[in-house]
Amino acid sequence: MRIHQVDHPLIAHKLTQLRDENTTATGFRQLTNEIVQLLAYPATAKLPTAPKSVTTPVCETVGSELSGETPLIVPILRAGLGMLEGMSKFLPEAEVGFLGMVRDEQTLEIETYAERLPADLTGRHVFILDPMLATGNTMVAALHYLREAGAASLSCICIVAAPEGIAQLEEHAADLDVDLYIASLDEGLTETAYISPGLGDAGDRLFGTS
Ligand code: URA
Repeated sequence: MRIHQVDHPLIAHKLTQLRDENTTATGFRQLTNEIVQLLAYPATAKLPTAPKSVTTPVCETVGSELSGETPLIVPILRAGLGMLEGMSKFLPEAEVGFLGMVRDEQTLEIETYAERLPADLTGRHVFILDPMLATGNTMVAALHYLREAGAASLSCICIVAAPEGIAQLEEHAADLDVDLYIASLDEGLTETAYISPGLGDAGDRLFGTS
């Protein structure tokens, strides 16, 4: 797995506002979408392109356009939905699929409770959105699910990650050739599996629930 911690003054500035417990749900959504766009910039840097002729008002020239299979954006429900607007504004050519995953508290296995993906992912690059990489269990399950569905390459875009989540990905998704883009590597998980210092419950903060 390749970890890209994106170090940028605008990300650091917006992330500090995002962490603030006094930031409203509206502000939280806006900042989330702004940070996603800043993470999307390096995350999309290796998308394939092909030459394309274009006629400017002055002359003909050759530029480039995205080529290959249509990329796919997959927010993990629920909190990943808060990153979708920013990501799809940045990459409007992509299709969008959805994955809802939850841990069964009896078996501790991750179960997929919602899935809306294109039938064939063969050859496609998938951008998985989840603001919080906490234990990493859901992300590991999502990565395996998408790889088995045929995804050619996988990038995870998370705002905050815990070292425990990264270790989990390194242990259980090492063979999947993943790029992970994060704005911050935080200190660790609390006893209740919140990231510290973190953002709190990202889903609740995005959607104004508690
Ligand atoms: N999910 C969240 O929303 N917040 C955390 O801190 C960990 C997981």
